[in-house]
Amino acid sequence: MCGIVGYIGGQQAAPLLLEGLTRLEHRGYDSAGLAVLGPSGVRVAKQAGRVRDLGDGLPKRFTGKIGIGHTRWATHGPATDANAHPHTDESGRVAVVHNGIIDNAAALRLELADAGVELVSDTDTEVLAHLVARSTADTLEARTAEALARVEGTYGIAVAHADFPDRIVVARNGSPLIIGVGKNEMHVASDLAALVRYTTTVAHLADGEMATVTADGFSTYLVRTIDGAGHVGLAATDRRASEVEIDPSSYDAGEHDSFMHKEMLEQPARAEAVLRGRLDEKFGTGHLGGLNLDARELRAIKRVKILGCGSAYYVGQMGAALIEELARIPADAEAASEFRYRNPIIEPDTLYVAVSQSGETIDTLLAVQEIQRKGGFVIGLVNVVGSAIAREVDGGIYLHAGPEVAVASTKALTNMFLAFAMLAVQLGRVRDLSISDGRRLIAGLNAIPGQVAEVLGREEELAEVARELAGAENLFFVGRVRGFPVAREGAQKFKEISYRHAEAYQTSELKHGPLALISPEVPTVAIVPDDELVERNVAALHEIAARGGPLTVVTHAGVDLGDLERTARRIDVPRSERELDPILLTIPLQVLAYHAALSLGHDIDKPRNLAKSVTVE
Ligand code: F6R
Repeated sequence: MCGIVGYIGGQQAAPLLLEGLTRLEHRGYDSAGLAVLGPSGVRVAKQAGRVRDLGDGLPKRFTGKIGIGHTRWATHGPATDANAHPHTDESGRVAVVHNGIIDNAAALRLELADAGVELVSDTDTEVLAHLVARSTADTLEARTAEALARVEGTYGIAVAHADFPDRIVVARNGSPLIIGVGKNEMHVASDLAALVRYTTTVAHLADGEMATVTADGFSTYLVRTIDGAGHVGLAATDRRASEVEIDPSSYDAGEHDSFMHKEMLEQPARAEAVLRGRLDEKFGTGHLGGLNLDARELRAIKRVKILGCGSAYYVGQMGAALIEELARIPADAEAASEFRYRNPIIEPDTLYVAVSQSGETIDTLLAVQEIQRKGGFVIGLVNVVGSAIAREVDGGIYLHAGPEVAVASTKALTNMFLAFAMLAVQLGRVRDLSISDGRRLIAGLNAIPGQVAEVLGREEELAEVARELAGAENLFFVGRVRGFPVAREGAQKFKEISYRHAEAYQTSELKHGPLALISPEVPTVAIVPDDELVERNVAALHEIAARGGPLTVVTHAGVDLGDLERTARRIDVPRSERELDPILLTIPLQVLAYHAALSLGHDIDKPRNLAKSVTVE
């Protein structure tokens, strides 16, 4: 959430910063700004709106070879020009960009106002600029550290100061900060996406770490001491830059009209990547070395608790069902954002699983920390290598989905499901899941990438259904048992990019209330796999049809919808093993959401009010 860039070197900073901000825009896109440090001091350009608007309106001769920039997702104060970053002090000599939240901003704002400082924005970040400016320490590093010692909360920050025109100071606590090493120039960013075009030699700051970045290198340190007067002592750390293996083109949409489209179509290849080397066909089990648990420890697990947010939570529900079914261990998923506020009981023989594409979602990260504080064992299903959650967990499974840029998650979710399936088989095979069932499921998993491709190959047919659904203001997505998390994920995807009200319900619960809303204007997308509930599901569809509700049924070939065949639209997905059905039922729902949003003319990758990676509570 929010993006930071910085540059120092021999080139003009502004065009490079704008390019970097464009690459980070999925992290927040309600306002953007730049500060450059040139011969006449710090110059700032910032405004509400998109990065391209900022670029179009940039003053002529916005020159300087040092600069910082920011793209914002509003937390404190609405998206206005004044609230956009960078923020400056009263003299205009200090400029700060910040990701994260300063929890004690209100108290600090009062204190600064009492001291006669005129605050010009509603943001928490502005206090940092004033605190840095008011420090009398000798160096920008110490001034920044003194300011940070006053704040509670999370931050990734970059600071430029007219009195120290050869450096940018950066710091991290909870929000990522990466330094990119170029040739006689250095870059700073909150995400690799902004750097990979310039360099793949990078250093990730650790929480609590600060760095000085000059044109010819960087040095890192930690705050060691703070005396009673708030003065700090700094101690050097020896963080080095290393090469990251990344294909810069994975951050380009290529011939696709959006990243979401590109990422949906990448699913077959990315699904193969998550399965590769992890399926043991001979013994019919998963081979997940990163769990850091041997067979005896896996056997000792009595319960599984899965934590994630949004779509990751819904896939977590699919995962919990898989684990209960295949390993016969009680398993459930819970929204990570709620978990730690109910003083959860942490049990020694429970396996906790944190699921996150970004590995940065603060609610999931804080849930991991709460579990670990109480002595629990947590593994992560994480996509971004080296992210905060990936670093904190006790073991895990990387998702190998590649960079995901679209706010609406697709390929990472598919790989989360596949990772859960492998985990469930492995947990099952140290219990009562037979070798033949294990082999059956491994064969089923091997077939999934091709089957996903088969569904995606029917995009045109699905687009037609989507355009029709897009005409409705309100929709239901319904499913039962294995199908219910699928319905939840389908409704989530639909609402977040089409802005239609899509509500998920258990099919079995319709008659306990929501049936009152069914009418010819309210279509229902029903998930009806060919499983043990198919007859009951079809009966419920008749209840919807009897009230004039239009039906789209996501099902398997051969499922008999009876006289509904005449009126309902059906979308048949390939048959898999029953336990693995949810993922193939999910894929067409992504395509429906995408084409509904496209037909409504929405910005698919940047849905309103949202941003990729929710790093604030
Ligand atoms: C929906 C979506 C979000 C994320 C959620 C968790 O399409 O992308 O609901 O799933 O914000 O994000 P991660 O997986 O990064 O923790």
